[in-house]
Amino acid sequence: MRTQVAIIGGGPSGLLLGQLLHGAGIDTVVLERQSKAHVLSRIRAGILETGTVALMHQAGVGQRLEKECFRHDGTVICHGEMQFGVNFFERAGKHVVVYGQTELTRDLYGARELANAKTLFNIENVAIYGADTDTPSVSYEQDGLSHTIKCDFIAGCDGFHGVSRKTIPAQLRREYEKLYPFGWLGVLSETPPVHDELIYAGSDRGFALCSMRNANLSRYYIQCSLTDKPEDWSDTAFWEELKRRIPSEYADKLMTGVSIEKSIAPLRSFVSEPMRWGRLFLCGDAAHIVPPTGAKGLNSAMGDVHYLFNGFRQLYEGGDSRGIDEYSAKALARVWKAERFSWATTKLLHRFPDDSEFDRKMQQADVAFLAENSAAQTVFAENYVGLPY
Ligand code: FAD
Ligand code: DHB
Repeated sequence: MRTQVAIIGGGPSGLLLGQLLHGAGIDTVVLERQSKAHVLSRIRAGILETGTVALMHQAGVGQRLEKECFRHDGTVICHGEMQFGVNFFERAGKHVVVYGQTELTRDLYGARELANAKTLFNIENVAIYGADTDTPSVSYEQDGLSHTIKCDFIAGCDGFHGVSRKTIPAQLRREYEKLYPFGWLGVLSETPPVHDELIYAGSDRGFALCSMRNANLSRYYIQCSLTDKPEDWSDTAFWEELKRRIPSEYADKLMTGVSIEKSIAPLRSFVSEPMRWGRLFLCGDAAHIVPPTGAKGLNSAMGDVHYLFNGFRQLYEGGDSRGIDEYSAKALARVWKAERFSWATTKLLHRFPDDSEFDRKMQQADVAFLAENSAAQTVFAENYVGLPY
């Protein structure tokens, strides 16, 4: 088999890149390790920047999103009973939308099928060859048979645990990592959201987030211990703990129900530099991870797609390699700022087990400053809605 761009990973970055390239007449094959049903069963991000929405439109897959998403012009931030709003639209002239990663992925699979673009599921043992030569290829196994795809370029969109990043020789890679001493326990429930905006809540018992997917589907998270397992938390225990961490105004009207999904994600900051090795380009979680506070994971992946797609298009349409030559530097410049915002927002609102009394006072002063200071709110809003590409 031969293609122009072999895309490893059928998550949001691989699929959006594939759809944009297809629209520009560039041939792709997407190789996904899991089944389509498995990918669509993973509950992940829920907030899209307007830049992400614009990319979906550019790829011709924005119609359902446009109809079903919910526009959010601001968010609520709390500490204990203290609460304030940050209005994104007034401060940064932009909004964000609520639209689940699952739905975005579903739309992209649908468009790919409609376009008869090749997506291979249940692929095993993907390996990359000759990325540092002019004749790269990707081998894989499907149903016990081995295959090879020859290509011009390889896009490594295979997430944090994929093979792409590890293919780059260790001596050419620099990795930066911070592990946080807690995770997030997330619950999805068929109940109306507690409020019409998201609530990011710090408290003496730890962080909590009230989010949503639609008028009758809520997504809630609480900071939990790294040793906790989802089955350690009954629904009742989860709701009780959530109520203790948000202002009583919201706790009193919280509608609880049966959880339809419950999972724990550890928190990590991670960046691998550079994002290119020869004809292999890393994109999304394959190159960087943020802690979820601030909703930057999926949106940063989409930023990479923007730079990489434009680089490929310039090359295939006009023979200009500047876009792909600058890809790693441009993508990383934006990624590091999203890393900073996610790290700072995590520090602002979580309870760190080793924090001293002084550290706690600093955290409270940080929250108070954000509550009172217009410039600080503008900085928060500009980061939350997404920095320009
Ligand atoms: P992925 O979504 O990881 O997609 C990579 C794909 O590659 C996967 O489908 C995988 O099966 C496939 N793959 C892996 N290895 C191989 C291989 N060897 N061969 C072929 N295919 C392979 N972000 C937020 O903003 N908010 C959140 O609430 C949030 N929650 C999250 C919860 C969890 C548990 C995780 C893991 C992430 C969460 N994120 C969240 C981050 C966000 O979901 C990611 O940033 C986003 O999915 C990145 O998209 P991606 O396509 O780069 O990677
Ligand atoms: C969601 C997740 C986040 O990490 C966040 O900051 C906002 C919303 C969500 O899953 O809805």
